[in-house]
Amino acid sequence: MKILVINGPNLNMLGKREPEIYGRMTYESLVALVEETCAAEGLECEVFQSNQEGAIVDKIQEALGVFDGIVINPAAYTHTSIAILDALKAVALPAVEVHISNVREREDFRQVSYAGLACVKTFMGMGLDGYVEAVKYLKWYVLNGSN
Ligand code: DQA
Repeated sequence: MKILVINGPNLNMLGKREPEIYGRMTYESLVALVEETCAAEGLECEVFQSNQEGAIVDKIQEALGVFDGIVINPAAYTHTSIAILDALKAVALPAVEVHISNVREREDFRQVSYAGLACVKTFMGMGLDGYVEAVKYLKWYVLNGSN
């Protein structure tokens, strides 16, 4: 099984960016955590980050026929991007949404998740551990969930 992990804008700034919200772990340590989790679960993975909405749409489209599922933290595009929602619906791969912070307890403008409408599950407010849970859930879902 092969999964794609997508991170949206400003997540490359992890460790420096608002550490009181997102913690002190760097983006590189997030990539390492995802790769270690996937290896332990017997999954192949690619971890992708972009600050550009169109690049994320392109990557989702390219996943069709290549990956079995997607873990996605669209970051700020969560709350604005119908294009990312449409891309997830277009490829129709199982997708799991992750947010490092608990967006439900934050500003009103973070209360909408477009991408989440195309995801089978959301993990939020767990810090980087949310990615570990998302990878494990996606594996379970691909193997069992859609039956
Ligand atoms: C985030 C939450 C979003 O609201 C925010 O724009 C981000 C990160 C999170 O992981 O908690 O950039 O997706």
